[in-house]
Amino acid sequence: MDSNGNYSFVTPRELTDEDIDFLCQWTNNIFDKIFLKDHVIKVHEEIRQREHVYRCISAFSYLTPKCRLHPKYQECIELLLQDRNARILDLGTCFGQEVRGLIQSGVDPSQITASDLLPNYWNAGKDLFLDNMEEVANLRGLNQTQTLFGDWATPITCSDITDNLENYFDVIICWAVFHVLSKEQVDFMIRRIFRVLKPGGILIGSCRGARESKEWVKTPDSLSRRYLHNESSLAEAFESAGFLKEKINVITVERPSIPLKDSHIPDHDDPDRQQMVHLGFSIQKE
Ligand SMILES: C[S@@+](CC[C@H](N)C(=O)[O-])C[C@H]1O[C@@H](n2cnc3c(N)ncnc32)[C@H](O)[C@@H]1O
Repeated sequence: MDSNGNYSFVTPRELTDEDIDFLCQWTNNIFDKIFLKDHVIKVHEEIRQREHVYRCISAFSYLTPKCRLHPKYQECIELLLQDRNARILDLGTCFGQEVRGLIQSGVDPSQITASDLLPNYWNAGKDLFLDNMEEVANLRGLNQTQTLFGDWATPITCSDITDNLENYFDVIICWAVFHVLSKEQVDFMIRRIFRVLKPGGILIGSCRGARESKEWVKTPDSLSRRYLHNESSLAEAFESAGFLKEKINVITVERPSIPLKDSHIPDHDDPDRQQMVHLGFSIQKE
């Protein structure tokens, strides 16, 4: 972060075989690893030229679904497999690696809604994961996934992205999204999540946080500052949106930071990052 609170792009590290494991599986091992690595680098460079590059994008972490690390993930999958009418929303889907992870876990693509602010990352994801290639196109049925693009983090007005979706989703995943928003935007987003989650439905997710909640670097639109919640402030935000206190579970998760190339200041030398933590959450709506 520079002294103006801007978040600078960091050079990606080398791609490893492990990074492209999921891409190999998604494309049914029909391409060799050298081809896939070159392909990822090419798409990555194109994205860098035209989109906001979040840190997780710099670090190639979009190549691997991460929701499966959540202790409630398997429970959510069981629910979706047992009831084929059950629906899941991936909020802040970006390139859609979680959506593809869900499909790989057996969830029917038509049960899934992928949502983001704009379609840009989602469309780039189709290039990245080679869904536009004939050999892959119909392999997994990604085109049956619903998409919903719009702003989840502005005040609810008479016409809203969540219209007609009240009490609609059985499961919502929201991974690495809250920490790119201001405190106010997180509040609006959580209210919308509450609105679209069915009674009995479950929200699972994760975000960066801090031991002491605080404002952080500028939001991508530079209009406000991102907010890092801590366990209790995030739990309060959920409660204010209507979730029952007893059903809210927010915990600090010990997890290594995203490794980046040597040229980047390591987290332990960056005073701003020393205080940062990962928060994991799960909540059932009454
Ligand atoms: C740091 S990325 C995380 C992406 C993905 N969930 C992951 O874990 O890799 C944050 C995502 O949130 C989306 N986002 C940011 N503001 C949003 C908003 N107001 N409404 C909907 N999505 C938003 C961004 O476009 C981006 O895809």
